[in-house]
Amino acid sequence: MKFPRLEDVDLAGKTVLVRTDLNVPMQGGKVTNNNRIVRLLPTLEYLMKKKCRIVLLSHFDRPKGKFVPSMSLAPLVDAVSEAMDGKEIQFGVDCIGPAARDAVAKLKAGEIVLLENLRFHPEEEAGDANFARELASLGDVFINDAFSASHRAHASITGIAAYLPIAAGRLMEEELASIYSIFSNAKKPITAIVGGSKISTKLELLENLVAKVDNVVIGGAMANTFLLSQGHSVGKSLVETNLKATAKRILETAKKKKCNIILPVDVVVGQPDATSNACVGIEHIPADQMALDIGNETIRAISDCLATSKTVIWNGPMGLFETRPFDVSTMMVAREIARLTTSGTIKSIAGGGDTVAALAIAGLGGSFSYLSTAGGAFLEYLEGKTLPGITTLLEAKNSKPHSGGKIKANA
Ligand code: 3PG
Repeated sequence: MKFPRLEDVDLAGKTVLVRTDLNVPMQGGKVTNNNRIVRLLPTLEYLMKKKCRIVLLSHFDRPKGKFVPSMSLAPLVDAVSEAMDGKEIQFGVDCIGPAARDAVAKLKAGEIVLLENLRFHPEEEAGDANFARELASLGDVFINDAFSASHRAHASITGIAAYLPIAAGRLMEEELASIYSIFSNAKKPITAIVGGSKISTKLELLENLVAKVDNVVIGGAMANTFLLSQGHSVGKSLVETNLKATAKRILETAKKKKCNIILPVDVVVGQPDATSNACVGIEHIPADQMALDIGNETIRAISDCLATSKTVIWNGPMGLFETRPFDVSTMMVAREIARLTTSGTIKSIAGGGDTVAALAIAGLGGSFSYLSTAGGAFLEYLEGKTLPGITTLLEAKNSKPHSGGKIKANA
């Protein structure tokens, strides 16, 4: 893959827009896992050495084009500063317009400003060209270091490149090289473990995945929709009733493609505040309880599947791992994959904010072959899809003349 790297663009003294992914796990306004921040540091350090003025662009969560105070990037200022040994990080209360321009204008060489959530503007997700141009007008060079958001054809991922020279950041390079090196020679059987809460965001992905891998384990709240599609009652569990038919179709596709699907046969039910918990068969989920983790029988089935696998991909926790005792299956699966990886039996990749956070809690991140910062993007990349952000990098024509100097902001 040939795309421009940091060394390939003239950065000295420039104002550099860095698209990063600070969509990190947070609780009560505090970052609970800073992996995505730490992994960004090599790019920031390189740019600081080049005496760049650094403008960080990111989305956080899904505010749907409106200002949502709880989705502000402001709390990330301290988290980024802490990861950089207390370096001062400025904040711009908007990512375009006068507030953004002022914040960028105040920067001195080597300084960093973080601009407010891109997704507070509907134009970001719409991939609006004028919005991209506004963003581009803030800098001289664009660096995409957000592999984990590069499956989105959003203005800040694909649009800015129309106006500025572009290059991949260090994290982007690392992600592409590491995932490629594991999957270009991936040994079969390949097992994908997919969890988390929402089937809707992983829908197409699951359909494609069952055609590419030998086993798919479905856990987390996502499994409830599949159980419902098979006629089981799931009580008060999180479920996407409108996707029952889709879940059914995915199971049928898997059958046609001879992909073995492992769904829970038992679950731990209770209340999210952990005031109660009990392991029951999937036929016996009480009407007033929620399935919050997968049960022991299911964990055994996953372990058996892992024992015959050669390559394992993991995205999304198996249960409500943030709350004990609903962390048990996520921790056990993590330990088993780590053990098999360490003994050289399998190659393993885990990706996604929650999965990486769970591995950090278990102290097992270092035992996997590779930890990707990406969730959805990494699964789409593995499916063989071309990610819009990567295409933009591959098609970069940095040698073509740019408009010279700064792009003019829209009136
Ligand atoms: C992620 O966490 O996977 C990325 O930040 C992308 O987020 P999105 O699914 O809301 O686009």
